[in-house]
Amino acid sequence: MATRINPSILAADFANFESELSRIRSADLVHVDIMDNHFVPNLTFGLGMVERLQQVSSLPLDIHLMIDDPARWAPGYAEAGAFSVTFHAEATTEPVAVARRLRQIGARAGIALKPGTDITPYLELLPEFDQVLVMTVEPGFGGQSFMESTMPKLARLRTAVDQGGLDLWLQVDGGITAQTIEIAAAAGADTFVAGSSVFGAENPAAQIALLRERAGS
Ligand code: DX5
Ligand code: ZN
Repeated sequence: MATRINPSILAADFANFESELSRIRSADLVHVDIMDNHFVPNLTFGLGMVERLQQVSSLPLDIHLMIDDPARWAPGYAEAGAFSVTFHAEATTEPVAVARRLRQIGARAGIALKPGTDITPYLELLPEFDQVLVMTVEPGFGGQSFMESTMPKLARLRTAVDQGGLDLWLQVDGGITAQTIEIAAAAGADTFVAGSSVFGAENPAAQIALLRERAGS
């Protein structure tokens, strides 16, 4: 199974994104955390920053929207050229409509679930998505500890994806290190977001290589 390592620039130097991007060239995608201080109690950056990152990044952008009202805001990120746009299930009553709009614009559509959100109602909707993000911390901040309690949800998703023959990436985000990545890979993840463990490393390229190896690819 192909695996992907997506460093999160939430852990990068916000004043030097261009040079920070040059430290992670060996990664697969760049994970960009958009927070609105409503859906989560933290604020990062918005569409203008993503439009600029799109111009300077050699890697595709993996946008993680931790915001209210994704129906209103998500399409703009797809129009900016993002490779994937993932919004939270808890933030909308119309996830399928948002996903269809994203795909229509040409982005991969992702749905994210907080640690306490049940996957059951979303299983029948999986063909509408290209990616499911299982949050392995409460969204809002980098540097938190991996919650192993989310692994049964991931395993259920892996079974559903394989049994349904779906072409869908299973992403984990939060507390991913050279240790916890093995646990998430064993439970069925194939796409790994890592913030502090990559940008906090002296040699991010070596850390990305280590994460790849531990994920089994
Ligand atoms: C948290 C964000 C994560 C964060 C992960 O809400 O969605 O993407 O950057 O950071 P680490 O890897 O440090 O837990
Ligand atoms: Zn994220």
